[in-house]
Amino acid sequence: MTKTIDLTLSGLGNVGRNFLRIIETKSDRLAADYGLALRVVAVADSSGCAVNMDGFDPHALRLRKEAGGRVADLPEYKPGIPLATFLALPGFCDFLLEASPVNLSDGEPGLGYVRAALGAGISCVLANKGPLVLAFHKLHRLAARKGAGLAFSATVCGALPVVNIGQRDLIAADISLLRGIFNSTSNFILDEMAGGCSYADALAEAQRRGIAEADPSLDVEGWDTANKLTILANSFLGVDVSLADVAVQGITAISTEHLALHRAQGNILKLVAEARQTETGYQLSVAPLPLPATDFLAGCSGWEMGVEIHSDLYGKQFYKIWEREPLPTAIVDPNVKTTRCSK
Ligand SMILES: NC(=O)c1ccc[n+]([C@@H]2O[C@H](COP(=O)([O-])OP(=O)(O)OC[C@H]3O[C@@H](n4cnc5c(N)ncnc54)[C@H](OP(=O)(O)O)[C@@H]3O)[C@@H](O)[C@H]2O)c1
Repeated sequence: MTKTIDLTLSGLGNVGRNFLRIIETKSDRLAADYGLALRVVAVADSSGCAVNMDGFDPHALRLRKEAGGRVADLPEYKPGIPLATFLALPGFCDFLLEASPVNLSDGEPGLGYVRAALGAGISCVLANKGPLVLAFHKLHRLAARKGAGLAFSATVCGALPVVNIGQRDLIAADISLLRGIFNSTSNFILDEMAGGCSYADALAEAQRRGIAEADPSLDVEGWDTANKLTILANSFLGVDVSLADVAVQGITAISTEHLALHRAQGNILKLVAEARQTETGYQLSVAPLPLPATDFLAGCSGWEMGVEIHSDLYGKQFYKIWEREPLPTAIVDPNVKTTRCSK
């Protein structure tokens, strides 16, 4: 018997639209292998929200957004009613997929959506880092109190399941070191610069290829990497930390001369996130570091992101992903805890 899962999608950008594409292309597989059918009952973008309890057609919705359409133009648009109002209704849907823009000032709109949904016992899957960076433990406590699931593997390294590995697989591990390259924009820029480009030209090339945002400061100043480190540290290093606990240095002061100097010494400069265990707790940092060419992270080039975890029980582990498009990021574990079951 197929179980229908009703879901709300906040954000219909790269991630949201790729999620719709996955529903379109994998619905037979989801039904056959997992006994699941996904039904999108509510959607929101910057123009507002729309609700259709019979389910939107994912294909039509995706095409409409790809053609520049707005939720406010859908017949099911709910003028004047914020999405959070629906999400606060217990049983409104089974889970929320939160893929609205990152906001590190107050977390909105994503934080409000997630709070409303969890408060109503609705499970949440986040691609958006903002709510977790600002309120990781508060949201987890709320989820636990309401019996809702909270999943966020997509917030760090796209489809690389770092969060899942740390939380699920490294049982009872004492992690002495976690290091990673978490931001492909800065990694791409450093690679280009190592090839002789200036910082400005490398950034312009990243923007031309659509890798870097028009405002790339979160990436190149190291904050995106620091956000991800904060999420990982909170999720499986057993700490309660915020961005303020991370010493952050980006790549904006790096010159081609710096890179050439390191190369002459056999090193490659990378923007590295690090959580190192000390006698007083974990020391968290993000900084450009010269790495020997043989180092695992030195081998993460261009589009690649990687993580290295050293622990007492599991030795040294190395994970790497090449992710050019956000499609892998948009995959949701079909086993995500849902509040309602068969229809
Ligand atoms: N792209 C990736 O590879 C990737 C990977 C991991 C995590 N993420 C995270 O996932 C999230 C989405 O990324 P993206 O690349 O899909 O971003 P995006 O292309 O910029 O899309 C953002 C979406 O959010 C919508 N939005 C804006 N304000 C909203 C509001 N008040 N309520 C609901 N929706 C609102 C936008 O509406 P309009 O369509 O009207 O503009 C747009 O549809 C971000 O937080 C990002 O950091 C992205």
